[in-house]
Amino acid sequence: SLVKQIKKEVKERFIKPNGEVVPILIFYGTEYGLSAEVAKKLEEQINKLGDGQFWARIVDMEEYELIEFEKEQLVLIITSTYGDGVPPTTARPFFDYLAANQLNLSHIQFCVLALGDRSYPHYCAAGKQMDKDFERCQSKRIKDRVEVDQEDWTIFDRWIDSVCGMVPQLSGLEKRNDDYLYEKAKIFALTQGKHNKKKPYYSKLLVKRVLTKGDKVGIHLEFELGDSELKYIPGDALAILPDNPASEVSAIISLLKLSASTKVSTPGWHYQETDQPNPSQITLSHILTKCYDIHNLKPELLQLLRDSAKDASQKEKLTALLEKGTGKINQVLVEFLENHHLVDVLKMFSSARPPIDDILAQLAKLLPRYYSIASSMKSNEKTVSLCVAVVKYDLHGSERVGIASTHMADRMNVGDRVSIFVNNNPDFRLPADGNTPVLMIGPGTGIAPFISFIEERKALGHTGENHLFFGCRRSDEDFLYKEELEKYNSDGFIKLYTAFSRETSQKVYVQNRLLENSQQIIDLINNNGNIYICGDAKSMAPQVHETLSLIICKHMSIDEADAQAMLHNMEVNHRYQKDVWF
Ligand code: 2AM
Repeated sequence: SLVKQIKKEVKERFIKPNGEVVPILIFYGTEYGLSAEVAKKLEEQINKLGDGQFWARIVDMEEYELIEFEKEQLVLIITSTYGDGVPPTTARPFFDYLAANQLNLSHIQFCVLALGDRSYPHYCAAGKQMDKDFERCQSKRIKDRVEVDQEDWTIFDRWIDSVCGMVPQLSGLEKRNDDYLYEKAKIFALTQGKHNKKKPYYSKLLVKRVLTKGDKVGIHLEFELGDSELKYIPGDALAILPDNPASEVSAIISLLKLSASTKVSTPGWHYQETDQPNPSQITLSHILTKCYDIHNLKPELLQLLRDSAKDASQKEKLTALLEKGTGKINQVLVEFLENHHLVDVLKMFSSARPPIDDILAQLAKLLPRYYSIASSMKSNEKTVSLCVAVVKYDLHGSERVGIASTHMADRMNVGDRVSIFVNNNPDFRLPADGNTPVLMIGPGTGIAPFISFIEERKALGHTGENHLFFGCRRSDEDFLYKEELEKYNSDGFIKLYTAFSRETSQKVYVQNRLLENSQQIIDLINNNGNIYICGDAKSMAPQVHETLSLIICKHMSIDEADAQAMLHNMEVNHRYQKDVWF
């Protein structure tokens, strides 16, 4: 939302400067829009400098094809880090391009603002990477990298001020008269693929099958690819653009005393679906269902409610919530936002009824949800499959649900459509050589990409050994793809190792099975095999990692540091890969 909005604004201001100016590139990578926001502020400040002799332009790393680095002089980089220490999804191709090419950028001066979150591993890893890569390309750093933990505008502003202070002092910046950007922008606009993140494919659900018994529900889904030209390979993820629950949308509309058919302006990020009404006819109900995140609220929404609350005690409560705590982050507010959805705050603050357009302006975009693909195009090129765990839990006595998983499980029937696109995952790939043995560790829905791996290898007639470690609660409850896996096992195509955690008094996890089969693991490593882990990032993946290290330690008679170094080395050489999530 924000990024789109910023891009639109930037485009509107993208007026070719009259005469000669010093062009400055503000180059950002963002997942949720914060880096774009900082970039925008920096752009405004730079363009105010001096008497307009500087011309800063913002470009998203996603569109790096627009940039001809040989024509740049000063590049101000702002990038966040995503998930397990990786660059923002859309910035990935640029990071890969920079890492893979030995560019000579010695004519460029640069500096980096790295956004991150200390509660995740690999703090600010993407910013560090970019800083290193520009240095490797011989660019000249004008200022040490600054790292920022979460959204801290004091530090953002300080960085912006410091950069603006430096720019007029830098030597070697030339004034130029540039046209090339316009030409590049035109070409880029013309070369977009048929369906992608910006233009999702509205796909029909062909198969929906419950894979589990009991309260922990896992479902298998198959979507048609039709003439979408969407392509994926094992390891890739499928993005789903979910609908919000109808019950919540109608509750919101009735709390606001509005009508579902109220006409509202269409947000910039709205995408066209084939069976959908003319965009000028968009209704409140439609955009609340498809466009806005009604679960993850922003503090700005509470500010809006505070400003419009008529009831004194409600106003007071909101004021108290919004008051910054002593620390950098207002923990009370963070928790409140985590635990309250739009419908909850509208109920709680019944005297606050700002105009609907103002409310919408403070809601975030409903983001796509990503699922590891559980099928192979080599075995069926017309469909794409997912294995989805249905997320439902209790919060203070009321049921909370995962938007996308319950959309697919409860609100979609075979024949219904949903918007999808493919998200490439270059960090989770089968070995190119079909003879290479693989060790796959994927408890729960971590099994998904391995279904894809196994189908692919089977379809291609690859002969490398396939060792699969799967874990679930009980063999007769949540053993996902039980029949298929047992068949592959009895046919000898895979070797299946199962860990059932709730069948015996002692928990049995995939790690226990790995330990019991240490020799197999060592043989696989010695035979140049690859190791893959998929699933829970919080406890499973680190514990499996430690188990692997222990096995190597013991069986190769080396110390722990060497075992860790060995795993690290395998990771660097893409022989040890993870697809994990929190
Ligand atoms: P549990 O829920 O009984 O503890 C899929 O979710 C399977 O992964 C379940 O059997 C679950 O067991 C198990 N699991 C939970 N934590 C784990 C961990 N740290 N390592 C490995 N498996 C784990």
